[in-house]
Amino acid sequence: MYKDIASFIRKLYSNYDNIALHAPVFLGNEKKYLTECIDSTYVSYIGAFVEKFEKAIEKFTGSRNCISIVNGTMALYLALKVLGVNSDSEVITQALTFVGTINPIIYCGASPIFVDVDRETLGMSPESLKKFILNNTIFKNGLLINKSTQKRISAILPVHIFGHPCRIDEIIDIAKEYNIYVIEDAAEAIGSFYKNKHCGTFGLIGILSFNGNKTITTGGGGAILTNDDELANRIRHISKTAKVNHKWEYIHDEVGYNLRMPNINAAIGLAQLEYIDIILKNKRETANIYSNFFEDIKIKFFKENYNSKSNYWLNTIFLKNIQERNDFLDYMYSNKIQARPIWQLMHKLDMYKNFQRDELLNSEYFYDTIVNLPSGYRLSIS
Ligand SMILES: Cc1ncc(COP(=O)(O)O)c(C=O)c1O
Repeated sequence: MYKDIASFIRKLYSNYDNIALHAPVFLGNEKKYLTECIDSTYVSYIGAFVEKFEKAIEKFTGSRNCISIVNGTMALYLALKVLGVNSDSEVITQALTFVGTINPIIYCGASPIFVDVDRETLGMSPESLKKFILNNTIFKNGLLINKSTQKRISAILPVHIFGHPCRIDEIIDIAKEYNIYVIEDAAEAIGSFYKNKHCGTFGLIGILSFNGNKTITTGGGGAILTNDDELANRIRHISKTAKVNHKWEYIHDEVGYNLRMPNINAAIGLAQLEYIDIILKNKRETANIYSNFFEDIKIKFFKENYNSKSNYWLNTIFLKNIQERNDFLDYMYSNKIQARPIWQLMHKLDMYKNFQRDELLNSEYFYDTIVNLPSGYRLSIS
């Protein structure tokens, strides 16, 4: 059976000898814009491409504001920081995610709390979230307090895993009930919509990543999305060293950061965004082809849910157990096909194993059974 799957994937990605999980493609104006950017001499964070890229992301996602950042990890860090998350805070998130979701919580001095994910979406389970809150917190004077640490739970950080939208509206309803912020980790979800609204635009703040393995790339890069103009202005300010506007004077009115995306990266991103619809169509076709193939051989393939339009960043199948998963991955690697397991769960990592968590039964099940398949743009059918 593994042999059939491998030869099927080889046919899909027949242009490659080594088949990557998600290789970027550069099919548009990337080189032209890079040359223009270099000729302009504006290669750092001030420049026309940054502004154009941000406007284009705003238009594509429907967010009122986009602030482009050096990467998704730092976008999350700034989002948490600007909402006042600090060493007195805790953030409810999920153990099934990339480490880039959790590290920024620690950079702020705060603690993560891990709840389970949902079987249907792979994202945070609203039931798990609610259960954790009911069993472990008290709501006092408008603050949600963790009974065991006496610290304030100030934010919820759900993730749209592999670009599949989570049940974000239900999570937001719970957050409203307890007066906590929602920051959406939509790092993997550019081009994904839930109830016709772009992922990352539901919470007070959402973030995107444009790392080289994502649906579109800027080399390295990320973005913050928010409909709150005041927050956006504050993020713009602190992401550029908190420099006060002045013709020639250098005055900084607080401790700022140097985290804006350079113009040279935005030049690549703008070119990529110009044909994102073609990329998304190609990826959707790949998902359909995989889906039909796996249906025929009776292997479960993850399909987008009712209400969701996924970008299918990474296609996902479910094998029987960890042994089958490992055998499958061994076979694919020896055939130069980069399939991969889900990330080691966050509460199993040495540095995160002592943080509070709820039962993580679905997360554990997914760790044992999920395999991601090559999912990048297929050159052969453009
Ligand atoms: C879920 C998730 N969160 C955060 C990040 C961090 O983004 P970046 O790699 O751009 O720092 C990534 C991806 O790389 C991710 O997949």
